[in-house]
Amino acid sequence: MRLLRPNKAFQIIAHRGLSKRYPENTKAAYQAALSQQIDMLEIDLHMTQDGVLVGIHDETIDRTSNGKGAIKDYTLEALRAFNFSRQTEFAEHASIMTFDEILTLCKNFSKTLLIEVKKPKNYPNIGEQIIQKLKHHAFPMNRVIIQSFDHTFIQRLSENVPFLHYGVLVSKRKYWLKQPTFSEIAKYADFVNPNYQLINKKFIARAHAEGLKIMPYTVNDSQTAKKLIQMGIDGIITDMPDELFKL
Ligand code: G3P
Ligand code: CA
Repeated sequence: MRLLRPNKAFQIIAHRGLSKRYPENTKAAYQAALSQQIDMLEIDLHMTQDGVLVGIHDETIDRTSNGKGAIKDYTLEALRAFNFSRQTEFAEHASIMTFDEILTLCKNFSKTLLIEVKKPKNYPNIGEQIIQKLKHHAFPMNRVIIQSFDHTFIQRLSENVPFLHYGVLVSKRKYWLKQPTFSEIAKYADFVNPNYQLINKKFIARAHAEGLKIMPYTVNDSQTAKKLIQMGIDGIITDMPDELFKL
């Protein structure tokens, strides 16, 4: 049974595009997601050898393309040769997308872009490059959230570029035994987005007490989604927004 959006403010976020049905982080997946009545599109960013920001989740292209090797060891031109539709039976050749191309695509839709910066330590100045691209495209800054598992990276970026919205991701591995320090996070971020298995009433109460919004990842079944919504989350990150919700 598909769920109803619990309230107007609740955020439904397509994870890596409509990635249940299309190859993740490809134009097809992004476009399909943006055409739905969702609120945000989540993307992952890495950087090529020649310094181009590209939409991809893993550090390597092994899992999602017909090639092998690390993104940082390929130029954009070399990466273009690979087919990123490998995971599904999607027939078309899917090219890797640059951040420029993603921004051009997203500008046509009134959705928020939830940008996850992967491994920022590997890419000096990746934060500044993202901001520069957003400015270059005149992308509405109120429709951007930058998030990362690297909390120090988010803290620094928010200090340097205070006009954007920021989120920190909270992994099960790191926070299974302890809860994040919400009062510290609230000084530089607006969102605390945990693995959904970390959510309990205490987590929600403490985050909300600091004014943080909570959008757990990655929820793909309606029972879990229903339970989390009843507990009071502010949004949900899912591979299948159209199957989980009546949009
Ligand atoms: O947006 C949060 C979620 O995407 C974090 O985990 O591994 O899917 O990037 P991952
Ligand atoms: Ca992600």
